[in-house]
Amino acid sequence: MTSAERIVLSSDHSAIQLRQAIAGHIAARGWVVVDIGPATPESTDYPTHGEAAAKLVASGDCRFGIILCGTGQGIMMAANKVKGIRCGVCSDTFSARMIRRHNDANMLSIGGRVVGEGLALEIVDAFLGAEFEGGRHEKRVEMIKAMEG
Ligand code: RB5
Repeated sequence: MTSAERIVLSSDHSAIQLRQAIAGHIAARGWVVVDIGPATPESTDYPTHGEAAAKLVASGDCRFGIILCGTGQGIMMAANKVKGIRCGVCSDTFSARMIRRHNDANMLSIGGRVVGEGLALEIVDAFLGAEFEGGRHEKRVEMIKAMEG
């Protein structure tokens, strides 16, 4: 994976600090961070932020997206409603690596109330450091795409 590619980051109010930590971490590794907020901690609705980030990935404006809410689940569900998005919630590095290798995931979701900052940064590194393997996995990803209509 080459760096200097754009990654969109978004979250709801529950994971602003962790999102900012991830932004600094990946920027230091050369990724271009497109942080679409929110910047302030007022309660907000995760579907709005998941959709906005997903649209930037689906349009090709950003290569990847990293999104966060309390569990990572709700914002992932919203992102996966956008055509072309394959987003998984990860709380471990193995899953983060495998959703790139086998599922060609283009978005990663993390639960800000589930994992601490240290593990979250390792999950991000595992996701961004892995490549889609293609081969037998290609057909299965194509099957997912075919369901999108
Ligand atoms: C917000 O309280 C919480 O519901 C949200 O961050 C997320 O966990 C939903 O999936």
